[in-house]
Amino acid sequence: MTDKLRLGVNIDHVATIRNARGGVHPDPVRAALAAAEAGADGITAHLREDRRHISDDDIDRLMDSLSLPLNLEMAATPEMLEIALRHRPHAACIVPERREERTTEGGLDAVRGRDTLCPLVGALAEAGVRVSLFVEPDPAQLDAAKAVGAPVVELHTGAYCDAAALRRPHELQRIIAAAAHAEAIGLECHAGHGLTYDTVGPIAAIPTVVELNIGHFLIGEAIFVGLDASIRRMRALMDQARGR
Ligand code: PXP
Repeated sequence: MTDKLRLGVNIDHVATIRNARGGVHPDPVRAALAAAEAGADGITAHLREDRRHISDDDIDRLMDSLSLPLNLEMAATPEMLEIALRHRPHAACIVPERREERTTEGGLDAVRGRDTLCPLVGALAEAGVRVSLFVEPDPAQLDAAKAVGAPVVELHTGAYCDAAALRRPHELQRIIAAAAHAEAIGLECHAGHGLTYDTVGPIAAIPTVVELNIGHFLIGEAIFVGLDASIRRMRALMDQARGR
């Protein structure tokens, strides 16, 4: 069991609120610095093709001012590869992206995307960026991630979080089995999407999962209790589930 489970705080939706009015408030970089104070282990930001939340300038400023590792979520496109290679963040998580979706709705199809992913993962790895692929908890996807040379997978927890109570144990079992498969084939395992105070415990309790990336719920909860308190409570629930 890896004792310490890292928390990556996704700050995209601070930028969503800023962009609703234009201008500079609230500033996602300020949120990132506050998240660091509250005990985040890393910051995650998704630079989407349509720039609907995080902007290029946000990435510039995060790279300049952040002492925590930055995990850049990006689509597997030449434009995003160029940006990632220019900035060389600590990590890059490759996600699928469709313009019409509200959020990242499914995992990356690493099986079908093999020919695109191989050179992209190779170029990022050569630049010293730790690459993860955001995939469904499906052994075939993990095998494909391994085959394209990614050292890390992030398991999509959306189906588990969205499932009705009766189906949730089934979705949890899929994630547990996928995390075991990741370990068996030598992949580091992260998880995220849709996690809340109610759903984080069973995922945090999976011993081989070493990082969770959480955004929307934390930013929403911050409206009521403040960002510091929302992150600290999530951190406490993760530690509790981990038996710390
Ligand atoms: N991990 C990945 C790869 C994501 O795309 C997202 C959403 O941007 C998250 C984690 C965080 O999901 P949420 O905002 O629902 O916590």
